[in-house]
Amino acid sequence: MTYDFTTCPDRRGTGSLKWERYRGRDVLPMWVADMDFVSAPEIIAALQERSAHGVFGYTVPPRSTIEAAIEYLQTRHGVTASAEQLVWFPGLVPALNVAARAFVQPGEQVLTCTPVYPPFLSAPEHGGVDLCKVDLAEKDGAWDIDFDALEAAVTPKTKLFILCNPHNPVGRVFPEATIARLADFCRRHRLVLISDEIHCDLVLDDVRHTSGLKFAGPDGPPVIAMFAPSKTFNLAGLACAFLVIPDAATRRTFQRAARGLITEVNAFGYTGCEAALRHGWPWRDALLEVLRSNRDQVENFVAASFPGIRTWHVEATYLAWLDAREVGLANAANFFEDHGVGLSDGIPFGAPAGFLRLNFGCPRTQLDEALQRMARALSAA
Ligand SMILES: Cc1ncc(COP(=O)(O)O)c(C=O)c1O
Repeated sequence: MTYDFTTCPDRRGTGSLKWERYRGRDVLPMWVADMDFVSAPEIIAALQERSAHGVFGYTVPPRSTIEAAIEYLQTRHGVTASAEQLVWFPGLVPALNVAARAFVQPGEQVLTCTPVYPPFLSAPEHGGVDLCKVDLAEKDGAWDIDFDALEAAVTPKTKLFILCNPHNPVGRVFPEATIARLADFCRRHRLVLISDEIHCDLVLDDVRHTSGLKFAGPDGPPVIAMFAPSKTFNLAGLACAFLVIPDAATRRTFQRAARGLITEVNAFGYTGCEAALRHGWPWRDALLEVLRSNRDQVENFVAASFPGIRTWHVEATYLAWLDAREVGLANAANFFEDHGVGLSDGIPFGAPAGFLRLNFGCPRTQLDEALQRMARALSAA
């Protein structure tokens, strides 16, 4: 089957978070991690079938959806999980917030590496606990975890480490040895390891994603691995995610903290998730081709036409991280927005002023138009 990744229906007026931000303005939204592509036909068909059933009562995780998730984890990521180890959730962001409350007490802290997806940084604050940020190390164009800095930062009050795996916004797929070392770090310091793997099926290069689950077990730290079809299959609005928490006591602590606060996943969320995991892979493979080409276009265009802006090679995700500090703009995100391109400002990611994130998960014409607008803006500046 061929899929259309060259056009997208007009999303204005559909309540799209991405497009509503610039309603009534000629600004291309290249910010939040949501793609301007129609979902896989297999997913749409499954949702239509569920909709035609016509009854939408409270829904528990369907047996077939649980089985699809277990099979997915085994075949795609080589990890064995049981039904009881899965925790279904309406999103990873609420899960991060619940974890910050479940495993960390006031006066204790969460550790993470920056720059990073902003909810990693806001979850501790929402939970009334402390945050300790350690910068990722960047050397010769590659991002890595700075283990010396982590060892220097960790204290007996540190209880939770949150890893973005693969990493948003720097697009890094950490090698297995890095994940192993991080798991060992967490074990030695008695930290719960959260491995947010929402981007794990968007690996663009010939490198392997390593699940944090590979290091769970009696000789490892307690691990909470978080998955969702939202990024890979562009289903964020269906609000369906699943966590794998192999250790029973850790799972109970997490579930106790969520009790009464977190809604169940909605009926369509399960249907979309199951259809994606069972039937979405040909669409996903075609998507990766498009994303690779868009990624190359961004990297080449920035190098050729964005004087003073640096970017890094994106191994996974559809997000490029840009360093515009040398351009000397007072506010880089506002500057490009004024020139018709809406990017994510790097500051909420824990970066210094001047960093930006560009979402290239869109038809090529839209990406090219955004890049041209940015180049024109820079030459005018
Ligand atoms: C690393 C990461 N985790 C979680 C999310 C959002 O997860 P959810 O929509 O399930 O809350 C995103 C969305 O961009 C993300 O990049």
